Amino acid sequence: MALSIDDRASLDFVLSLRRHWAATVYPRLRADFDAIDPPPPPVNDAAGLAPLVHGLPTYPWFSWLERGSQKMLWRAVSDAVTREGPLPAAPDGPASVEPDPDLVLPTWYTDWDIHLQPGGVWSHELAGRVYEMGARLVMLGENDDYGFHRLFVETAVPAHPYRRIVDMGCGFGKSAWPLKQAFPEAEVIGVDLALPCLELAARRASQRNLAVRFRQADAVATGMEAGSVDLVTSTMFVHEVPADVLPAIFAEASRLLAPGGVLRFLDFQRTGDGLRDLAMIEHGARNNEPFLPPMIAADLPAMAAAAGLVNARWVAFDERSVGRLDSLSWPRRDEWHFPWAVLEAEKPQ
Ligand SMILES: C[S@@+](CC[C@H](N)C(=O)[O-])C[C@H]1O[C@@H](n2cnc3c(N)ncnc32)[C@H](O)[C@@H]1O
Repeated sequence: MALSIDDRASLDFVLSLRRHWAATVYPRLRADFDAIDPPPPPVNDAAGLAPLVHGLPTYPWFSWLERGSQKMLWRAVSDAVTREGPLPAAPDGPASVEPDPDLVLPTWYTDWDIHLQPGGVWSHELAGRVYEMGARLVMLGENDDYGFHRLFVETAVPAHPYRRIVDMGCGFGKSAWPLKQAFPEAEVIGVDLALPCLELAARRASQRNLAVRFRQADAVATGMEAGSVDLVTSTMFVHEVPADVLPAIFAEASRLLAPGGVLRFLDFQRTGDGLRDLAMIEHGARNNEPFLPPMIAADLPAMAAAAGLVNARWVAFDERSVGRLDSLSWPRRDEWHFPWAVLEAEKPQ
């Protein structure tokens, strides 16, 4: 996308501010925390540390900068995308979109501007492109070629001659594209509620010559045939779903999977580091992601088991290099980052 000098300056400013927040302000908050004397005892529930952490000198900077820079990000991105205007009609290509004009979006979905994106990812024509550009900045500009999602597919998804793959909450297609690249013989279907994201996903897939189907549907009721899918994936999706809806997500994934089918959901988990876990849980409030803390508190492997899946467990994911790790334990990191993790489960034979 060709940016004006003004747009480039705004985006560079926001990106620098976010890098400063992650790489300088968070480590200062850590130093404040480590200097507490006597040190707080280990806690199971990091929320119990909130009164202590909220009193640290760096905390107001850390907290305000997270929310404030996110608001600036959407302003800068929306300005740039609005200035570019609607894209020309999508050229013909192998990807397709299947809108559902009768779909009623759940109110838990429409009531919140998730990630603070004004109007969310669903409510207007440019929403998918605003989300696309914002997502690149949120990853601190280090994921322009979507290596994160490729690493998920390459290291967390077992190699297998899948026939049909469903990617739930596919957004603008970041995980569906590498799934199709890794498993070209499989029919890959991305499912999402947001039509602007699905249209963009199909455009970008066609630009990559990838025959992916993008289907507008609620992941709790995809309308697809039971037992017709070998792999169900999602990335950065389950923390956006209310805890009381999550069992229906697992029930639908389990219904779709054929015997021996595979489920892989990438999201976040607790690390056991109280400060980091509190920062992640409070990210839910600062970034308008109200369902994140309840998802972290919920027992998703138990939900998967209740839906008839087996071997359900979380493992850590390190997006900098190796991707999937063998246990739920992360290498030490000083900067702010999300503790990514993969929920793995299978449908019994
Ligand atoms: C944070 S985005 C992640 C998008 C993509 N998976 C990625 O990794 O970039 C979450 C997506 O889930 C979608 N979503 C939320 N609830 C959904 C539901 N019940 N059914 C289908 N999609 C849903 C949202 O519209 C959004 O596109």
